[in-house]
Amino acid sequence: MNRETHSINLQDRSRGRIARALRFVRQQGILEPLRLVRRHGLGDSGRFVARNIRHLVADRLARRWDRDNGVDTAGSIRLDALDVVGPHRDQGNECVCTSPRSFAFIMDRLTDDLADYTFIDIGSGKSRTLLLASHYPFAAIVGVEFARELVAIARRNIERYKSPAQKCRQIAVIEADAATYEFPPTPLLVYFYNPFSRDVFEIVLGNLMSSLERHPRPCLVVYGSSSHRAIEWAKPAIHDAGSFQQRVTPPMPRFLDAVRTIDYAIFDYRPS
Ligand SMILES: C[S@@+](CC[C@H](N)C(=O)[O-])C[C@H]1O[C@@H](n2cnc3c(N)ncnc32)[C@H](O)[C@@H]1O
Repeated sequence: MNRETHSINLQDRSRGRIARALRFVRQQGILEPLRLVRRHGLGDSGRFVARNIRHLVADRLARRWDRDNGVDTAGSIRLDALDVVGPHRDQGNECVCTSPRSFAFIMDRLTDDLADYTFIDIGSGKSRTLLLASHYPFAAIVGVEFARELVAIARRNIERYKSPAQKCRQIAVIEADAATYEFPPTPLLVYFYNPFSRDVFEIVLGNLMSSLERHPRPCLVVYGSSSHRAIEWAKPAIHDAGSFQQRVTPPMPRFLDAVRTIDYAIFDYRPS
């Protein structure tokens, strides 16, 4: 954990997994893990261990990416202790950033000319996607994030990130509840990585639709989720909003730098 993150005192659940496991064995004795395997069966126990190993590997890779780039984007940050704008804290999901390889895989599906587009990450966390999006020639990049501490870290990351691969340096983070965010009147690529509940998503989607009706323009929506099976309600919700057509895309491979594999969908706005 770097000094600034420590002083902001984030509750990072990806830290100390091995220490927690060793403490458990010390406190409960060596036989307790064997009793747990007997109770849950070999299959479930094996999957539990595999999930934790995957988490550890992805977390190591994320921290290495951060060190290489002089930024702080890793971790699984709980929202409970953060200073949040607006009434939707309980409907927000903890801050886990999209893995660089998953993001590149999604962007490889978008062969469109994006030069006039604004990339918008709704629930942008510590800004990893904003930094990764800056490798593409967007007109501008915007993150919308409701947790004050994450906004502060994101802004510092943006200042520090100096990659020769950057093609867009017009990057900003807006501290706001996504439900109140007004979309700019430019072509849009709106990115969601499982930021919040269905209720909040429907408000944001409604705001996006009104904005598109007021100023018709090209718009791509990318929705990704790796837990809570959010993709199962998000896809029909986007479809039912009318005027969006889902692209045919291949499934996301299991990348080592991803804590979990992302299920994703890409939609094009096609007003009738
Ligand atoms: C799963 S993380 C995704 C982070 C980032 N989009 C990425 O892909 O790397 C979800 C983020 O959404 C933020 N969030 C949740 N509800 C929000 C809301 N109503 N308005 C703005 N941000 C929100 C959380 O604080 C968290 O940082």
